[in-house]
Amino acid sequence: MKVLVTAGPTREHLDPVRFLSNRSSGRMGYALAEAARDRGHDVVLVSGPVALPPPEGVEVVDVVSALDMLAAVSARLPWCDTLIMCAAVADWRPASCSAVKLKKRAMEAQLTLVPNPDILAELAPKKAGRLFIGFAAETHDLLAEAQGKLARKGLDLIVANDVTQPGAGFETATNIVTLVAPDAPPQPLPLMSKRAVADRILAWAEAKAASLPPRTPDPASRDL
Ligand code: C5P
Repeated sequence: MKVLVTAGPTREHLDPVRFLSNRSSGRMGYALAEAARDRGHDVVLVSGPVALPPPEGVEVVDVVSALDMLAAVSARLPWCDTLIMCAAVADWRPASCSAVKLKKRAMEAQLTLVPNPDILAELAPKKAGRLFIGFAAETHDLLAEAQGKLARKGLDLIVANDVTQPGAGFETATNIVTLVAPDAPPQPLPLMSKRAVADRILAWAEAKAASLPPRTPDPASRDL
């Protein structure tokens, strides 16, 4: 398979030194990229700013903001047959970004924010038989939230995790997830390393891809 993985947070800058971001470490996305590579797939990893070494044998595309990530993922979508959106994309960005560091006295007490595009939703019209897998990091109503996102974003699978559980979510080497697909009961997995979770997700994708009719590659993918 040709697997496009996103990982890490995005940074939404106010000025060259200040930004809004989140706690994503990129570990789950990097584990997915490494597992996909080791299972013999071609992998492109679009990564927000993280403190992890680039995985060998994987093309890494570094991005900063949600808009950068949208551009990088859009450009590579024609190439891939499986998109795994593991990145914790910031939902909002400052309405403007100053080219120079803002002086404290010149800053407003309240930030004006504008919504970022939802990358999965933007790309949904170009899905064309590709597998789209998303993540839902939740602190409550895990399954209801995940099922809502699965339907709203038109996904084949959503990987739900309750980030309040010890051993799950941000910054840890382990995760506790439930695989939620439209056509099957939710599949809760026990506490596992992120690498083992990644292998389970890829095994799901391989089985799903094998059950689908072969996709005709996009003409644009020849250039990549
Ligand atoms: O709605 P929420 O952000 O929880 O959805 C999570 C899923 O949607 C993740 O797969 C994430 O990568 C993706 N997402 C996106 N674009 C956004 C926000 C989230 O593709 N702007």
